Amino acid sequence: MTGRVEGKVALVTGAGSVGGIGQAIARRLSEEGATVYLGDVDAAGADARATEIGGNAIGLAHDATSEAGWADVLCRIVADRGRLDILVNNAGVAILYPIEEMTLERFSRQIDVNMTSAFLGMRAAVATMREAGNGGSIVNISSVGGIVGLARTHAYGASKAGVRVFGKALAMETARDGIRVNSVHPGMIETGMTAPLAAPDPEEQRQRIAAMVPMARMGKPEEIANCVLFLASDEASYITGAEFVVDGGMTAQ
Ligand SMILES: NC(=O)c1ccc[n+]([C@@H]2O[C@H](COP(=O)([O-])OP(=O)(O)OC[C@H]3O[C@@H](n4cnc5c(N)ncnc54)[C@H](O)[C@@H]3O)[C@@H](O)[C@H]2O)c1
Repeated sequence: MTGRVEGKVALVTGAGSVGGIGQAIARRLSEEGATVYLGDVDAAGADARATEIGGNAIGLAHDATSEAGWADVLCRIVADRGRLDILVNNAGVAILYPIEEMTLERFSRQIDVNMTSAFLGMRAAVATMREAGNGGSIVNISSVGGIVGLARTHAYGASKAGVRVFGKALAMETARDGIRVNSVHPGMIETGMTAPLAAPDPEEQRQRIAAMVPMARMGKPEEIANCVLFLASDEASYITGAEFVVDGGMTAQ
């Protein structure tokens, strides 16, 4: 049986963490037949996560905030495979402080890693995809914080809202080239990013999650990966400029 993204070439940024959303996305794309490059500023992590996936997964040292870094990575992928079909802008950090403690330096870092990186990635990928002339799929990992306001997420939410609308506008520019651009908005997902938010007492943690999430549990990285896989595949051939929440009902309330 052929895979859902058989023969496609994909790049997932920020895919080097243990138990992160990036590796889960790379794994699903690989399982469904894509060649997958896992980029991360943590080069050893990217290599290790690619080795765990095996087969057609390749780790890359890649700082997504670096313009030169994007040029190098796209050059390497095109030299190796001749094309890029799927870009997943997943690299991100959560810099959460009360407003008085949100220094300009912290704010700028938040925007750089979550939004400027995605801009650089989309610009580089569109040029490469247009040149190959096969269309393509770009999926930006935003957040429910890019749609609604949550305490202490003003800077994080602004970066994620920026990615959301940037993608919609770009979708208008690339629709005729068959390049689709969509965003995925995870809710509370069990990864290293949310680990520091956990309450020390498991029962308190359970109650805290149940108060926020109608499905009364956190999501798993694989549940984000399944949505990304769909958008990356030709099954989503008429979907562009759209946003998909994967949040256990959190933002439907
Ligand atoms: N976990 C959640 O609940 C949640 C919710 C909504 C959105 N998200 C988003 O999902 C994405 C993945 O997050 P995660 O939960 O897997 O966290 P994570 O911390 O496990 O993964 C983030 C990865 O990004 C990498 N990274 C950071 N700066 C980078 C840079 N400049 N260049 C390249 N890579 C860089 C990190 O090294 C790390 O491997 C992020 O964009 C995050 O904002 C997560």
